[in-house]
Amino acid sequence: AIEKKVSELLSKMTLEEKIGQMNQYNGFWDVTGPTPSSGDASKKYEHLKKGYVGSMLNVTGVDEVRAVQKIAVEETRLGIPLIIGFDVIHGYETLSPIPLAEAASWDLEAIKKSAQVAAKEASAAGINWTFAPMVDISRDARWGRVMEGAGEDTYLGSKIATARVQGFQGDDLASPETIAACAKHWAGYGFAESGRDYNTVDVGTSTLNNIIFPPFKAATDAGVRTFMNSFNELNGIPATGNAFLQRDILKGKWGFTGFVVSDWGSINEMIAHGHAKNKKHAAELAANAGSDMDMESYAYVDELASLVREGLVKETLIDDAARRILRVKFELGLFDDPYKYCNKETEKKVIGSQEIQDAVLDMAKKSIVLLKNENALLPLKKEGQKIALIGALAADKTSPLGSWRLAAKDSTAVSVLEGMQNYTSNTLTYAKGANLTLGKTTFPLELTINTTDKSEFPQAIQTAKNADVVVMVLGEHGFHSGEARSRTDLGLPGVQQELLEAIYKVNKNIVLVLNNGRPLTIPWADAHIPAIVEAWQLGTQSGNAIAQVLYGDYNPSGKLPMTFPRSVGQIPIYYNYKNTGRPVIPAPNEVFWSHYTDESNTPLYPFGHGLSYTTFSYNNLLVEKISSDEVKVSVKVKNTGNVAGKEVVQLYIRDLLGSITRPVKELKGFEIISLEPNKDVKVSFNLTKNELGFFNNEGDFVLEPGDFKVFVGGSSETVLEADFKI
Ligand code: IFM
Repeated sequence: AIEKKVSELLSKMTLEEKIGQMNQYNGFWDVTGPTPSSGDASKKYEHLKKGYVGSMLNVTGVDEVRAVQKIAVEETRLGIPLIIGFDVIHGYETLSPIPLAEAASWDLEAIKKSAQVAAKEASAAGINWTFAPMVDISRDARWGRVMEGAGEDTYLGSKIATARVQGFQGDDLASPETIAACAKHWAGYGFAESGRDYNTVDVGTSTLNNIIFPPFKAATDAGVRTFMNSFNELNGIPATGNAFLQRDILKGKWGFTGFVVSDWGSINEMIAHGHAKNKKHAAELAANAGSDMDMESYAYVDELASLVREGLVKETLIDDAARRILRVKFELGLFDDPYKYCNKETEKKVIGSQEIQDAVLDMAKKSIVLLKNENALLPLKKEGQKIALIGALAADKTSPLGSWRLAAKDSTAVSVLEGMQNYTSNTLTYAKGANLTLGKTTFPLELTINTTDKSEFPQAIQTAKNADVVVMVLGEHGFHSGEARSRTDLGLPGVQQELLEAIYKVNKNIVLVLNNGRPLTIPWADAHIPAIVEAWQLGTQSGNAIAQVLYGDYNPSGKLPMTFPRSVGQIPIYYNYKNTGRPVIPAPNEVFWSHYTDESNTPLYPFGHGLSYTTFSYNNLLVEKISSDEVKVSVKVKNTGNVAGKEVVQLYIRDLLGSITRPVKELKGFEIISLEPNKDVKVSFNLTKNELGFFNNEGDFVLEPGDFKVFVGGSSETVLEADFKI
């Protein structure tokens, strides 16, 4: 029925109106204020009234959305409603942990719920389309946008892509509580050379098929309604003008029926890439390659009609793009009621509601990873301990909101200091220790890190001297990671490392709580500090989640979704590397094997690593043949400690011989179990063609019979292994 309605509408539209659907503007003017009369704003306003705008982004709140929607619906010839997009990356106004942190939970239900409540809150504010999830796999922590993805692994990333799409879109896209999702950035953006954002991407076919594509395919299979292409060039052709990506793979091989939006200005950026000679040429390349909507390049609205008239872009391609966009608008129910997301009462009731606060707190607790815990320093005792809390980030109420928090208000996160103050039977003394100067955090941003100011050191040292335990909250401010926040040094920014060492001199009982949007290089801390907690940027409820973990009211179960390097020089470093022809040290002092002369090959913390306040043992690994291409793997896991806990049981395989060489380990299954002390459980996994096969360089998925290994344990450095044949 929707297809019929789309066809009927299309048949009434002029070429300009169809192109109008393909045009997206940022709503930077005050839409509820006076009518703009000059400059860009007035051009946009005039286009909106003529029906030359199909979508707007960054128009938020019921009043503003209603105002622009009213123009589209009441003042244009055909009254086609706008689709309103926004970066709901980890929440709207109430924030969940950054996506990388959520991935550390490995908890697909919780991640789905987090996306679901984000959709509920955003839709209450008039939004009907999010530019999320970002499903780019990345192996390079220098790239600031790793905070927005699910980490380095394509299998985990695919599962999370599915969960996020399902969470945002629900079962019924027409419900006023769900929004259309967007798989981005298509494709290869996470493989920017040297981790520098927007940089060139040059990857081989096998990496493209086996590592980069699968999460996008998973999002497509989950019914994601939109894709966003990426800023980068991929093997010489900018993604925005890349017909192989958009026409051959996405809309061809995968049969995607939604639409593709460009990234911000990425159509015009093809000129700087050296691929398009001018804006008109860029519009021609992008439209022919399958970019359906132009975000803020003005290229389609200004150039497409003449390109069609000159025969350089076929009108059938314009029809196809407009059809895709209208289809999604119909699916969202915007034609039935363009104001369905514009209810003032719902907006008031839903934003910041208890249901949403509870969900983001739950997600925050599940995202925390216990990296190290010697001498059972954690959990803290609930009474009788003198605790010093040190670090600028410990009292910060904005940093935990992380990057991508456009609708959240500054200082609305619960700080660690506030969270710990809920446990009043201990003495808690706070000292800032080191300033983290940021520069200007409003647009245009100016990010600086104060590297010299140690004026707060003496007071912090004094505070630490008098404490039983020192909790230090150090790391990156929420604005240190995210888009265009690439770094070459992944240590603790500013003078924080010096502060840590200075405090260690006077008190060795340190619990280091890390706040960061990416893996950091912290070898000194790992060698000296007895307890280290990875707390990322955990969103609105951050401090409560951290305090509950520190005091043992929540037993941590998170596992790293990305390898922590020992040094930046090891990057890219990831667990599913290839063996090479010279993998192992042949003899002491031998030179000619694949290694560094000044650093080990191993990471500081491997993918999948994460401790608990209890311990687990793994036994009885069994492989049973189910059919010629399927095996069942089972293992017994026991809680061998003193408290109840959760464990992410991880299964990896190795295909020993391949026409395309296979990695030394590949994650192919995981399950979260909960166990009381002394209890055990049998966990089983079925390995089918889907898990045992791979993509060859023709892009075909194949299962090559032969010898395999299976590994099971609580991290990628697994404890048990067995062999089997297929
Ligand atoms: O969604 C984002 C994208 O990831 C980066 N460029 C801007 C877009 C819209 O804000």
